[in-house]
Amino acid sequence: MGTAYLDYTGSALYAESHLRAHEEFLKHHVLGNPHSENPASVAATEIVDQARRDVLEFFGADRAEYTVAFAANATAAIKLVAESYPFTAGSRYTLLADNHNSVNGIREYATRAGAEVTYLPIDGELRHDRRTPIPRAGGAPSLFAFPAQSNFSGVRHPLELVHEAHELGYDVLLDAAAFVPTERLDLGAVRADFTCVSFYKMFGFPTGLGALIARREALARLRRPWFAGGTVDFVSVEKRRHRLLRGAAGFEDGTLNFLGIAALPGGLAFLRDVGMSRAAQRVKQLTARLLAILREARHANGAPAVHIYGPRSGEARGGTVAFNLLDAGGAPVPYGDVERAASARGLALRGGCFCNPGSAERALDLPAGAMLDCVDSIPQESFDLGALADCLGGSVAVGALRASVSLPTTDADLDRLEAFLASYWSR
Ligand SMILES: Cc1ncc(COP(=O)(O)O)c(C=O)c1O
Repeated sequence: MGTAYLDYTGSALYAESHLRAHEEFLKHHVLGNPHSENPASVAATEIVDQARRDVLEFFGADRAEYTVAFAANATAAIKLVAESYPFTAGSRYTLLADNHNSVNGIREYATRAGAEVTYLPIDGELRHDRRTPIPRAGGAPSLFAFPAQSNFSGVRHPLELVHEAHELGYDVLLDAAAFVPTERLDLGAVRADFTCVSFYKMFGFPTGLGALIARREALARLRRPWFAGGTVDFVSVEKRRHRLLRGAAGFEDGTLNFLGIAALPGGLAFLRDVGMSRAAQRVKQLTARLLAILREARHANGAPAVHIYGPRSGEARGGTVAFNLLDAGGAPVPYGDVERAASARGLALRGGCFCNPGSAERALDLPAGAMLDCVDSIPQESFDLGALADCLGGSVAVGALRASVSLPTTDADLDRLEAFLASYWSR
């Protein structure tokens, strides 16, 4: 039967040609732990430097202005900013309600430092609700964060927010993890201070590698809370002094994933060869069909069989769509049941809240107070979304399904989804 893979926002699939090229490269090079003088080490250092240059070029980022710190994933890149941002009393941390938990989590550092945390609401289409303006930053360092593309709804938030937030006195963290796999990001035009990506979401391989692409000037204002191997040029145990390396190297803890980094130039070249505008065009077509399949799914009585969360059209959105099935009476079907049935048919959808509680709360109209009561009353050992749904009375959808498309998606994958939806009620 094979798998019809529709979880590209979770992770991309790698190209065979990319893997082959990487295997060939590894066969013909001896690479060692970087930053030493032996030939294997020098070779690895050169590869890492080349990968940094390629990443900057791919994102149109001028090397004089931007630098790249490699990290384990987008989350680790975000945490580099979270733990080092000079939040203090009088700072603000302002973010859209539509954010991944890895960006929501920054609020813990901000709050601990006495900063004011403000969520900007999203509207019924899960877009930034412009009726609530972005508050002006105070005199102290302040950070604004938003996703270029929502991992919940696929909404593309306007990149002009970067400029707007700068004008209001913020540094800007742009979470580009869900955006860059299928759309060009030009950091020459969108001058975010900190941009995070995960490479496996762009070209599937390697996992365990992401980057913080930072404006050098903004990176220099961060204060790292510790030092580690690889980040210092001087440490005295006796005098308890250390000096961090300047720039990105001061943010790369321990030994880099240098064999993985060696695969980046090939991955970026693959996307460049396909052409980001061609990829974007293809994903637009696929998204239009995906939305049409979901919009048009009906019960025998003509009632809609699917509720789409977020935009129902292809306007200002990427190829990620969140939805739930509805029964003939219009009540949501528990997403877990649908996910299981889809899996049995070889259909890889994602179920849950996708680490984006702000969009889930808005989309599913979750009763915040009752949810907290349930969280407090259900023992942690038995807590899951099913237990939460039971506690809320069973009729509330506590999660959704998500289908996401990308370059490798075929019409046959979408046919499988269409057939699955048509047959779900007659199982
Ligand atoms: C928008 C967005 N931000 C951040 C992340 C976190 O990425 P990672 O799990 O690779 O750290 C994801 C992952 O799905 C995402 O979609």
